[in-house]
Amino acid sequence: MSKIGIFGAGYVGLVTGAGFAALGHDVTIREIVPERVDELQAGRLPIYEPGLDKLFEQNRERLQFTTAPEEAVEGAEAVFVCVGTPATYSGDADLSAVWTVLDDLQGIASDTVLVMKSTVPVGTGDRVRAALDTRGLNEVSYVSNPEFLAEGSATHDFMNPDRIVIGSDDEAAGDVVEELHAKLDATVVRMDVASAEMVKLAANAFLATRISFINEIANVCELVGADVDEVARGIGLDHRLGPHFLRAGIGFGGSCFPKDVSFLKLLAGNSGYHFQLVNAVIEVNELQKRRVVSKLQKHLGQLAGKRIALLGLAFKPNTDDMREAPSIVLASRLLAEGAEVRGWDPVARPGGLLTGVALCDTVLDAVRDADAAVIVTEWDELRELASPEVRDAMRNPLIVDGRNLLDPKAVEQLGFSYEGIGRASSPFSGLPETAEPERKPA
Ligand code: UDX
Repeated sequence: MSKIGIFGAGYVGLVTGAGFAALGHDVTIREIVPERVDELQAGRLPIYEPGLDKLFEQNRERLQFTTAPEEAVEGAEAVFVCVGTPATYSGDADLSAVWTVLDDLQGIASDTVLVMKSTVPVGTGDRVRAALDTRGLNEVSYVSNPEFLAEGSATHDFMNPDRIVIGSDDEAAGDVVEELHAKLDATVVRMDVASAEMVKLAANAFLATRISFINEIANVCELVGADVDEVARGIGLDHRLGPHFLRAGIGFGGSCFPKDVSFLKLLAGNSGYHFQLVNAVIEVNELQKRRVVSKLQKHLGQLAGKRIALLGLAFKPNTDDMREAPSIVLASRLLAEGAEVRGWDPVARPGGLLTGVALCDTVLDAVRDADAAVIVTEWDELRELASPEVRDAMRNPLIVDGRNLLDPKAVEQLGFSYEGIGRASSPFSGLPETAEPERKPA
């Protein structure tokens, strides 16, 4: 049982903290936002993450929250940096929160290990080492320990990691971090710091590449009459490829893939290498978000004055996170086309991210008198979308399934037109009546 300090009570910090407490360690999480610390001390979670509340409850006695850095540092065997490293406008990593942590390490013992869990560009370890030395913290050792937590399944991912990557230029420091994870049944991969930093970026960029690849395959399938889901099933059975991350759709979003792919692109560019593949991954993803617009135009013609319901706003199901959500780009494209846009999501609260979009509390409200309903996020609730009730509430029963969630045949049998991604879609049934629709009072 060790004492662990954590800086940052965001997704990574809270899941990592609760995870280590579940492994029996004493964890103190330092957060700079006092209101967030008050929430946490009152037992309220500031984020929506399935299973995290239970993990907190079960390990409450081993979890402390504070705004005081010294409380997280004092007596700690390891201090984890779990602060946000968002992308700047140039796409570089904003490391200001990391440097702030280094300024808050007063009282850190010389045998404490500083561990980077935030996603950082390759080479950050060297800069942190130099920064520690200039602050007279030469004795404090540094380890890179990237996380691979996916939102919506993060607590499971922490307790059941595929691997634990430990990058250290100091063997003993790496041993300390390995020991902290001892109770987890997972392969430990030890390497140097720079390689560990690259593992994180490369892993996310490769997952994003698989998504852009299958999305391009989907786009070709539409032109040659093949079904991308069948294709994905066929190629996914190859043990060299595997079935994961081959779900075609309207593009990836979230706080990680877009940022990490751009980090890698810039890292390569700043190092004198033109990384063509990641450039293409980003470009394909941006275009994929917009393909829904042309699918709607195919069925509806001009979108001006049409009412479009966007179903699912979070960047993926089981999270309330809107960061880089495809719904944001899609909504602004549709508004720019003069369409009236309605949105629904079971948990995400977009706030100012979806200006001009009428947010609805129910799916039925969102699709009322709509000329089309678009599945943007594959929430389970939407599996029952194609119902007589929804069909009769819509002005034009057209479903554009941006996540291939539904069975095209079943949807058509219920009297809807269907348009998927890389799937056989309903034949173009001619533009709907253009006469200004008589809107039933809400
Ligand atoms: C990701 C990585 O999975 C995780 O290991 C890392 O630590 C952080 O980044 P996350 O961003 O939470 O996690 O979500 P993920 O489930 O990976 O999905 C990312 C995006 O890709 C979502 O927008 C999702 O809709 C999309 N996606 C995912 C697809 O379009 N197709 C797929 O087959 C899988």
